[in-house]
Amino acid sequence: MSFNPPAAVVVLAAGGGTRMKSAVLPKVLHPICGRTLVGHAVAAARELSPEHLVVVIGHMRDKVAAHLAEVDPGTRTVVQEQQNGTGHAVRVALEALAARGVALDGTVVVSTGDTPLLTGATLRRLVEAHTADGNAVTVLTAEVPDATGYGRILRGPSHEVQAIVEHKDATEAQLAIAEINSAVYAFDGKLLAQALGEVRTDNSQGEEYLTDVLGILREAGHRVGALVASDFRDILGINDRVQLAEARRIMNNRLLDAAMRAGVTVVDPATTWMDVQVTYEQDAVVRPNTQLQGRTFVGEGAEVGPNCTLKDTRVGEGAHVSNATADSAVIGAGASVGPYAYLRPGTVLGAKGKIGTYVETKNSTIGDGSKVPHLSYVGDATIGEGTNIGAASVFVNYDGVNKHRTTIGSHCRTGSDNMFVAPVTVGDGAYTAAGSVIYKDVPAGALGVTRPQQRNVDGWVERKRPGTEAARAAQAARSAGAPGGVPSDDPEATGTAADA
Ligand code: UD1
Ligand code: CA
Repeated sequence: MSFNPPAAVVVLAAGGGTRMKSAVLPKVLHPICGRTLVGHAVAAARELSPEHLVVVIGHMRDKVAAHLAEVDPGTRTVVQEQQNGTGHAVRVALEALAARGVALDGTVVVSTGDTPLLTGATLRRLVEAHTADGNAVTVLTAEVPDATGYGRILRGPSHEVQAIVEHKDATEAQLAIAEINSAVYAFDGKLLAQALGEVRTDNSQGEEYLTDVLGILREAGHRVGALVASDFRDILGINDRVQLAEARRIMNNRLLDAAMRAGVTVVDPATTWMDVQVTYEQDAVVRPNTQLQGRTFVGEGAEVGPNCTLKDTRVGEGAHVSNATADSAVIGAGASVGPYAYLRPGTVLGAKGKIGTYVETKNSTIGDGSKVPHLSYVGDATIGEGTNIGAASVFVNYDGVNKHRTTIGSHCRTGSDNMFVAPVTVGDGAYTAAGSVIYKDVPAGALGVTRPQQRNVDGWVERKRPGTEAARAAQAARSAGAPGGVPSDDPEATGTAADA
């Protein structure tokens, strides 16, 4: 079937969403799988390449408008001051467009901001059917197991669509109908504008119903058709947070199914969550309780999880990431992360590098083959290749006012428990001693050491802690000939050590 892009898609998103019971978010800004509800609606609409994409806003309009400007700056918004019904919303939109000199000749698709499972493919089929049948309006319908709350499709003797009746206005017999209105339609733009002028408000809610346009057009002798969705879940409308969770689960299952069919092992789909913009390559493995968010990418043969939350993060091929949280990080091919690591924005780990256990990194490049294996904080640093950072090191990047960088060269071996007081540079091949506070540059190949001398006070324990297990062990060791002096009266021994 040939496909003509519609003149416009109008997305209705002005309603309050009272049943969401939210003081902070309008219904259409609740997110599932990496997009807001209206974000999903707009993304599906974009797949039709409409000339105009219009979103009708009202409730918490500033928030919705700001969000749309961010996710799809090409959308136009029209404000519906009072929510007097779906028909009123479309009328306001068409009038606003006309006032801006936009005449909608051709197909106008109307959808809603609260049906996130509706795909671009289903919208396309609707427009194709509408064009092929030469209809004045084609409504997307579905047969659902529970039609409560939905408008019912009334069909005539030869199964032709006659009208839509809202749940609240339906008779007992009409309530038994399982085919429902999705609130998604393709219209002839001109006929829609005319018919909207005839919509009345004599119904149980006192609103202008868009659904009445079908009956009006049919009575005027125009062709009215329907496309029955192949999967009724496509058109599930979200009215409360229970339905929000249901839709999230359905969308997540769709995304995981697609990943598995593309060769990704998802060990436990029940505890794995994936956003719509996540990408992957074959033979990636995702272990339980893992969330892949934003534009995260998992490369070929990489293993992620269990217990990972990765947002906008790139996992290179063959890398292993376990029990880690990462945001806007790049993990090189064959690298290893975790367990228990936190990679904050700007972390770039080279190929075969390692960020190990209880390590936090931020705004730092860790070169190919370099390792930060244990208990460390690496912030605002550049580390070369093949370098090993000793356990329990801190990159002291903050002087209380400004952040500074630490640069560590390639093939360095830094000692455990180092503090790198930025700005500071350690040259290629340099070593630093355990326990050092490195506050001056260490030249290439040098050993940097800032360590007070160690002094042993012989016999201190037997003298100062007589009768303890420690004293007995010391005495036994001394009798057996262990090195170490006899108890003496070293006057210095009564100083700080004795007070400690
Ligand atoms: C609507 C349909 C119903 C259909 C159902 C599918 C009408 C009269 N009824 O009912 O046949 O089965 O959707 O989910 O169309 N909106 C506005 N301005 C308004 C009123 C609504 O922008 O003045 C927006 C809402 O924000 C929402 C959408 O239109 O995104 C649908 O409105 P809603 O009140 O949820 O309609 P339903 O009662 O669900
Ligand atoms: Ca609804």
